[in-house]
Amino acid sequence: MVITKIYQPDQVDQAADELKKGELIAFPTETVYGLGADATNEQAVKRVYLAKGRPSDNPLIVTVSSVKMVEKYAIEISPAAHKLIKHFWPGPLTLIFKIKPESLPKAVTGGLKTAAFRMPANTVTRKLIELAGVPIVGPSANSSGKPSPTTAAHVFHDLEGRIAGIVDDGSTKVGVESTIIDLSTKVPTVLRPGAVTAEELENFLQEPVISDHHQVGAQEVPKAPGMKYKHYAPDAQVLMVKEALWPAALQWAAEQSEKIGVMAPTTVIKTGLPANCLPYDLGETIQTASHRLFAGLRNFDDQQKVNWILTAAYPETGLGTAYMNRLRKSSGNVFFTKNNPGN
Ligand code: TXA
Ligand code: MG
Repeated sequence: MVITKIYQPDQVDQAADELKKGELIAFPTETVYGLGADATNEQAVKRVYLAKGRPSDNPLIVTVSSVKMVEKYAIEISPAAHKLIKHFWPGPLTLIFKIKPESLPKAVTGGLKTAAFRMPANTVTRKLIELAGVPIVGPSANSSGKPSPTTAAHVFHDLEGRIAGIVDDGSTKVGVESTIIDLSTKVPTVLRPGAVTAEELENFLQEPVISDHHQVGAQEVPKAPGMKYKHYAPDAQVLMVKEALWPAALQWAAEQSEKIGVMAPTTVIKTGLPANCLPYDLGETIQTASHRLFAGLRNFDDQQKVNWILTAAYPETGLGTAYMNRLRKSSGNVFFTKNNPGN
């Protein structure tokens, strides 16, 4: 057990010293909190897997504070990639490049010939990396399989005693993890949807972009290894509720003899919920819903324990694609239906 220290943004130099010593430090980003370790220190990186309980074949994102850091490892940054970097960095877009052989520890790449690079928008975190002088790995700072952390308190809940510290810069803005685009393939391929959408990337690049982030079956080899694991899942069963089915879903909830968690838009919450329902307001827009999704799932796991959580489904366009990608995983792809709740 180590004592997990909370660092304020103006103490980021102390947190950087810990990283230099090979310790683990959680850091804020605009998407979710990440778990940092010196990406060039194999021992430190191995401890990230241990702290998270993460399967070791699941590669880590390399978090950078400059394009120079990427150039050190990537074999080539194409003109299109440079265009993307110029426009979207710092920001919630992760780019996969072919890397120079053995330029990064195997613990980072999972033995792949590629690596994923991301420059977060959070200035405190970019300062942290700059002061550490090395890129840092940055998986989400949750216990593997749990919803990603969007506050320092979430990180503390999952990893207290396992990591040296957390840089606390408040709650994250976007709430769902970065878009991952693979640039090592012939056609750029989105492996994980995020706040930067495939449509936006295609329009910006003026060339086709493939999306390859369907639910992978047990037998399939997913392109982003992390996509095959159970993810974002609270202990309760989540049921996705389409807008038109809220009246039926709330009626079903009212008939249950236990408390039911309800994560719904403000308009639904305002209609008044049955007495046994515990409300969690997702706000008015897909932006607020994405921002609050993981915190809501955690709320019903950690504080208000329930067996069932009804959660709003949204149309799968724009940010809704990323939101639904996470929610489908949290629920095991289960929608509420009138005749057969939970099937
Ligand atoms: O927003 C984010 O990206 C957050 C913040 C903390 O930066 N990080 C994050 O990391 O979501 P993580 O480890 O939870 O998710 C990274 C995903 C995993 O599914 C992993 O399998 C995939 O990226 N990945 C990493 N390197 C890859 C590679 N070379 N090829 C394909 N997929 C890769
Ligand atoms: Mg994760």
